Amino acid sequence: MDAAQNELLTQVGPGTPMGEVLRRYWFPVAGVSEFDAQRVKPIRLLGENLVLYRDLSGNFGLVDRQCAHRRADLSYGFVEKCGLRCNYHGWAYDESGQCVEMPFEDTVVPQAKYKDKIKIKAYPVRAHAGLLWTYMGPSPAPELPDWEPFSWENGFRQIVISELPCNWLQAQENSIDPVHFEWMHMNWGRRQEDEHAELGPKHMEIAFDEFEYGLIYRRKREDLMEKHSMWTVGRVCLWPNAFYLGDHFEWRIPIDDENMLSIGWMFNRVPNESEPYVQGSIPTWRGPIVDPETGRWHSRHVMNQDFIAWVGQGTIADRTKEKLGLSDRGIQMLRKQLLSDVDAVARGEDPKGIIRDPAKAVKVELPTAERDLLVKGASRADFITHPFFGHHMHEFLFQAGQPRAVWEDFCAAMGIEPGHGIGSAPVTARFGVVLEPEKAETAS
Ligand code: FES
Ligand SMILES: [Fe+2]
Repeated sequence: MDAAQNELLTQVGPGTPMGEVLRRYWFPVAGVSEFDAQRVKPIRLLGENLVLYRDLSGNFGLVDRQCAHRRADLSYGFVEKCGLRCNYHGWAYDESGQCVEMPFEDTVVPQAKYKDKIKIKAYPVRAHAGLLWTYMGPSPAPELPDWEPFSWENGFRQIVISELPCNWLQAQENSIDPVHFEWMHMNWGRRQEDEHAELGPKHMEIAFDEFEYGLIYRRKREDLMEKHSMWTVGRVCLWPNAFYLGDHFEWRIPIDDENMLSIGWMFNRVPNESEPYVQGSIPTWRGPIVDPETGRWHSRHVMNQDFIAWVGQGTIADRTKEKLGLSDRGIQMLRKQLLSDVDAVARGEDPKGIIRDPAKAVKVELPTAERDLLVKGASRADFITHPFFGHHMHEFLFQAGQPRAVWEDFCAAMGIEPGHGIGSAPVTARFGVVLEPEKAETAS
């Protein structure tokens, strides 16, 4: 890639070609349950400073950070029955950004209706699957895809959000990078525990496919050959900025060119003995990046390991200096598709994966390697001894810093003792044990 292409693919601000592509999709920006404890939250998305709020009627809004009057910071505003009010002189806005009250002017010259002439920037917000989604592009908005796992039953869900100081694209390139799993998660995880630990099974063959909603990677590993679901189904690089792995989604949301939000949505099927299980609110927590004990980044949990890779590539990875290898064919497909999306949007067409037909947007199925287990479940004993899902029963393996209360709720849902696994072997050190191919499962 040359410098111009690197810039083209990584700039996200309004009016930039890739920024315009990203503004054609709905994406999650927060957890609904974050608004149990707060009403108003500043948020920066695609280079725009905004405020996300829940008003006293329970409606969500996403509006400009600055008040139209004299530019006060609306993230210090307070909510009303309808909308958000500026704390400086009381101008109030509804979720369409329309000014609905201008207290002094309404009092002295009500007939002038000044407020009708004032509107601030606002984007639609929808709550779905415990997430708050927005669409920052031109009307008409496409459908919000209702991915099938959002309606799976008998599951414990949680949302984990972290802010990372790097561009979103290097994170998304990780969604189509099968070989890093062997090294970053399996071998590095093992060697962090024991510097003489044996390396895990090797990748023998990888394949990449395109489908309607993204790209797929598939792998054969020494221990997981062609009959395994990692070869027959694989994992999904979900367009344009997410990774779908059956039991969880990871979105890479651009804050601006140099920062991103990682938003994880995790689903754990409860054992059959715990059915029916209906979760109340879906917890949302902030995943810490720095390990306070070492001052370095957390490095034992799967997504924390990925974070180290992404941020380590530089704030905006300089792709002109890369030397791509044979494992990077998926990365090349991803970049090529994004460049063709840029062209499509420039022609006034939809980029890849946009859904306009409401009927098609409901329970959209995605390739899911462990579908049977996630949908039908299994006995508690089977989950606990399962080569991959069994890890979840010991501790939360995706990110460091899970609040104790979330772990306890998880254990209650699973019908296991909260104390039984914490502090046992570090999560990634357990990956990649050589198993019989039919039984083996893998995480990424
Ligand atoms: S600056 Fe917001 S009401 Fe005056
Ligand atoms: Fe990873």
